[in-house]
Formats: sequence, C-alpha cells, structure tokens
Amino acid sequence: MLITCKDNIFHIRSGGESLLLCVTRKGRLLQLYCGHILPEGDYALSAFPPAPAGPSTCPNTPDGDEIESVGTARSAYPTAGLGDFRPAAIRAVGADGVDALDLRYRGHRILPGKPGLAGLPAAYAPETEAETLEIEMQDGKTGLAVTLSYTAFASLPVIACSVRAENRGDAPVRLTRIDSLALDLPDDRYDFLHLWGCWAMERTSERVPLTHGGMKVASRRGASSHSHNPFAALLRKDASEEAGEALGFAFVYSGSFQIETEVDFAGQTRLLMGLNPDNFSWLLNPGETFQAPEALIAYSDAGLGGMSRAFHKFISRHIIRGPWKDRDRPILVNNWEATYFHFNTEKLLELGRTAKDLGIEMLVMDDGWFGAREDDHSSLGDWFVNEKKLPGGLKALSDGLHRMGLMMGIWVEPEMISPDSDLYRAHPDWALQIEGRPDSPSRWQYVLDMSRKEVEDYIFGRLYDILSSAKIEYVKWDFNRNLSEVSSASLPPERQGEVWHRYMLGVYSLLERLLRAFPDILLEGCAGGGGRFDAGMLYYCPQIWTSDDTDALERLTIQQGTSICYPPSAMSAHVSAVPNHQTGRMTPFKTRGIVAMGGSFGYELDLTKLSDEEKAEVKRQVALYHQLAPVIRDGDYYRLENSDTLAAWETVSADGRQVIFSAVIPYARIVNTHIVRLRGLDENARYRDIETGKVYTGGMLMHAGLNLAPYRLRERDAVLVRFEKAE
Ligand code: GLA
Repeated sequence: MLITCKDNIFHIRSGGESLLLCVTRKGRLLQLYCGHILPEGDYALSAFPPAPAGPSTCPNTPDGDEIESVGTARSAYPTAGLGDFRPAAIRAVGADGVDALDLRYRGHRILPGKPGLAGLPAAYAPETEAETLEIEMQDGKTGLAVTLSYTAFASLPVIACSVRAENRGDAPVRLTRIDSLALDLPDDRYDFLHLWGCWAMERTSERVPLTHGGMKVASRRGASSHSHNPFAALLRKDASEEAGEALGFAFVYSGSFQIETEVDFAGQTRLLMGLNPDNFSWLLNPGETFQAPEALIAYSDAGLGGMSRAFHKFISRHIIRGPWKDRDRPILVNNWEATYFHFNTEKLLELGRTAKDLGIEMLVMDDGWFGAREDDHSSLGDWFVNEKKLPGGLKALSDGLHRMGLMMGIWVEPEMISPDSDLYRAHPDWALQIEGRPDSPSRWQYVLDMSRKEVEDYIFGRLYDILSSAKIEYVKWDFNRNLSEVSSASLPPERQGEVWHRYMLGVYSLLERLLRAFPDILLEGCAGGGGRFDAGMLYYCPQIWTSDDTDALERLTIQQGTSICYPPSAMSAHVSAVPNHQTGRMTPFKTRGIVAMGGSFGYELDLTKLSDEEKAEVKRQVALYHQLAPVIRDGDYYRLENSDTLAAWETVSADGRQVIFSAVIPYARIVNTHIVRLRGLDENARYRDIETGKVYTGGMLMHAGLNLAPYRLRERDAVLVRFEKAE
C-alpha cells in the first residue's frame, strides 16, 4: 500500500519520499511533512507549527480547532481572505465580489493507478505501480469544491499532484488563481535553485539562499519560455551535487507559470507552483469544473544529482509516451544550419546521399518548404508545399530518401501565422489581437488563436494532409515567438482572462489528435531552440531541440543545466559547422561530436562540404553513438564538473555494466591537473577501458579518480572513455 489513512492522517509514500497530510477536528487540511520516507506509525510528531509570535501578528482561529491560527498553520492548500497573510494557492471571487475561501474536508478516496487529466499532459502508470489519493474540500459559502489529487509511485521518489475545482454553488465564481502544488515546510534552511536564461542560452542554473519575504520565478509569455523554466529545487544548505537533501518541483505544463516562495516571520517556508495568476482568470458557472495542470515533487537525499536522476527516470517512464519512448532515436541530419532557406529537392537528396554513405538514418527538412517562404518574413499558416523548390511535393522527396534507405522528417510551426500569408489574408481574426490596439509582430509573425476550435481544426486538417501525402517519420514542431495581445474574438469580455490557458489546451488537443492519427511519428519539440522545454511538452514529444546555440562549449552549460530536471535522451543535440554560426568559435570536430553525444544525437551542417577526414570521423561517431544510445536513454547520469577549465559528465548503464565518461577542456591553462572522480560504480568491481584495455577498480575511479593527463587534452579538446565492468 502506497497511501494510507489512519487517525485523520494521510501518508503518501512514493519510492523514498513521504508526504503527510492531516485533517483537523474542524476539517482543515494541514501538511505535516514532506521529505525522506517515514515508517508507518505514530504521527503525533511535531505536527503543529509554533504559536504566532503575538496576538497582533496573526488572528486566532475562533472555532476551537487544533491549530492556533491559520496565519501560521502549515496548510495543504492555502486560501486567501481569512487570516493567512502568506500567498494563497487558490483565489476565487464569489457572487458577493469577495475574494475569500475557507476550504474544509468533505471526503476522500484512494484509487489504484494514476488517472489522466482531461485535456492536459500528465504522468501515467500501470495500476499496479501507483496509487492516487483524492481529497475533497469545499467552501461553505460559495459552494466551490476543490479536489486535491496526490499520486504515489511504487519505485520512484516523485509525487504527482493536481487540483480540480467545481462550482457546486448556485452563482458564478471567478477563479483568479489555482496553483497545482502547495508546500508548507517547517523551516527555511534551504537554498532555492532555478533555471533562467534567454534565447540560445537556456536553463542556466542559479542557486541562491531563501530569504524572508517572497521570491518568484515566472513566465508571462504564454510559453514556459527561455527566460525561466517551470522547475525549481529547494536544497538543504549542506546539499551538494551528490549529497544532502533536495526537493525538486516540476510543472507539467508549457504555458505561463509561476513558482513562488515565501518565508514567514516564524521561519516557515511556503512554496507554490502553478498557472501564472497574472495571465489567468476563469469564470466557473454553477456545475462547471476547472482542471489545473499537474506538478511533480521529487525528493532525494543524494543531492541535486540524486534529484535529477529521480526526475530523469520519472519523466522517461511516466511522462514520455509512444513507440519512441524505449527505442533508439534515429541519428539525423537537419538542413537548417546547412542551407537555411536555400534548398530544393536536388540539394536535399544530395545531402541525403552523403548522409546515407556516412551511416546517418534520417534527413530532416527544416523551415522553408511551404507557401512562398524564402526567409522568415512570410507564409506561416500556408501549409502547402512549395513545388518550385520541391517538384513532385513531399512525396517525391520522401520517395527519393526512402529509396536510399533514409527516413524523412519535416519542420512545422503550426501555432503561427505570418501577416504576409494567404491564411492571414483570409482570416485576419485568427491571429491573437486586441481590437483597437496595434499588434506586435515578433520575427515577422503573429500567434494563431489556438483557443478557437475552428483554428485548431483547420491546422489539424493541414497537418493531416501533409503527413498523409508522403512517408514522414518525424516532425519538428517549432514555436518561434511568445504570446502578446492575448484576446480572443470568440470569447465574451468576462472570459478574456481564460485565453492564455485555453490557448495551451488547444495546442495540447492538436498534439494529441496528431499523435492519435499518426502514432508512429517521432515528434521533436522546439521553440526558437529550447523555449518550451518542459514536462508538458515531453508528454507529446520524446525529445526537444535543446537550444539554437549549437556551439559545443556553450552547449556544455546548456545541457548540464537542462539535465538538472530533464533526461539527456530528451535533449536533441547536433554537431554543427565551424566557425559556429552563433558564436563564431572554432572547436574540433571530435569535441563537437562528444558534446552532441550527450543527448539525442544528430548533425546540422552541410555534410557534402566535409573533408575526407571529417567524413571518416562522422562514420566513427555514428557507429559509436549506436552503442551509446541505449545507455544514454536508460542509464544513470552524473554531472561531474562544469568549470571554465573542465566539464565532465558520466552515464552508467541501468545494469551497471557500461560506463561512458566524457570530458571537455573549454579553456586550457599551463597547469592542468585534471583528475576526475567518477560516480555510481561498484567499488570492488573491475572496469576495463574498452579502447586501451586498462583495468581499474570502481573504488580507484571513484576515490582516486581518472587522471586526464595521459590524454594530453589541449584547449577545446574532448575525450570520451568507455568502461566495461569486468566479469
Ligand atoms: C527556430 C529553430 C531552429 C530552426 C528555425 C527555422 O529558430 O529553433 O532550429 O528550425 O526556427 O526557422
């Protein structure tokens, strides 16, 4: 049993993690504990928080409940307006115009398995591997009912939680905030770690001490965004990469979000994660329900790395779906940085022939194959093949590639519309816009109003025709700007606050319909690089283009940052040309290969222009990656180093028999004594370097370390060493 209920205390045990909730005499739902798994038993521990500092700090609870004050109680789902001065997880304005809620326990049930969430991405599990607790709360005055769901998983320390609201009253209620995760921790001895960035520099990790008062990371862009990722962690002060306690939080959603912490006067920490209230309001008429997205809470006592590995396994097993989930992803060449918009069938077939000779498995045709698109100024929305570039359409190209034995992929950007497009000329109101205000183009494009069913249906129809017109195994789904002028011609004024979320529901519905129609297609997510790299997109796309920055050295930080929450197999990574198109930097071909092999591997350069030596290196890399792919997909990933002078990482296969170690010297100094200690090995086992035959004990590699001196690495050089556990 993963979830128990005894003496009004719920114990949710997921892998090595426990969450304890308690219903008070008067029906309030408190949170007693979240962290390392606890034994079943006596929970009369430090269940209740300290009394308020003085009578004027927080009001007392007048109804004789066990708690002294809602202002200091550790609430499982805090509300506003009634004496808790910390931020509320839910806010709802009733018919009287008042923003206050008092949620009290009504009942609960424990279900086998993990129910899905209507219209939203969510974790899934076989019935034998998970249990879900649903606790129903209700506000007496408005009749607003709130169901809190918590799912425990048998083997991983990750709890999935979500919230559903239902108006059981007889007057409309306006929701202005509904978070998916609320955590009240008894102390504040944590650092807050989050991932910030911008285009071509996504997911840079930053660790800062929690402070009294509030901290917030958020996106108000209608996408999870380059700027902040919908992930955060609370790390104990002494927690490091491999030791100490870490709580991690990931939002299974791809639109605007907010993560907020507040440390109160008593030193208690509240953490909230959910839809961004700045971009949200929802009118709930009597009888209507609203489902908020899902959030994940991971716990590890093996540091940040332990937390990352829990998320990697969880996302790989319980979020990513479809036939590609457990399959080696095809090694591909993408023509974007090879040709940009300047290609035709002949050029692509030529690229394909070279790719095939080198062992590459798929050619992906990027932007520029449709409408009149010769640059990024036009044609988004006109999803009809440009026969001038591709005579005979997609079929002729696809047939040509398949005859060579290559698979084919294409690029689309379905959520967008160019002002210079036939679609815009026919349906200008299909673009998000505010009547009477100017539009703000970005990359010369507007965003389609995906909250409108007819828009979703039209785009689905176009995609359906395209994907039915030829054999296409892979689709790169791009999204190159954020949402502004968010308003929908199809909704009344009182529902305009719903457009941001309805937009995401439309996108998710479109993705789901596409996967139902073409279940074997491998979808790759993309948003101007990694501007929508989140657990929501991973439910549809087993991999995501990590960043438009393909510079191997820049990718070290981007990929290590991404790996803090997301599995390496989800990170698309390509070898590109030098000088690098984003930074102008020169890096050896081998280094570019080793860095790209840290994720789902491919090429993005004109292979026909490579020297014979480089072509030979491609062949070696392709052959090597076939051996690495299953380890990267299922193995345990360790971040070993990331400094200006050394980056190193390691993956140990699920059965512990294979070890892949990679290191890069971004900046070389004369004194370079790099000795890197490996992790995750069996101390007493012997590991053989596959290339040199040298044998080390696990203990030696983990404690004394691997000395990189013999590899004679100069600036920007890299090495990849494979070890095999000896019998
Ligand atoms: C985005 C993507 C790139 C490429 C271009 C095409 O920037 O991230 O990989 O597909 O769009 O316009």
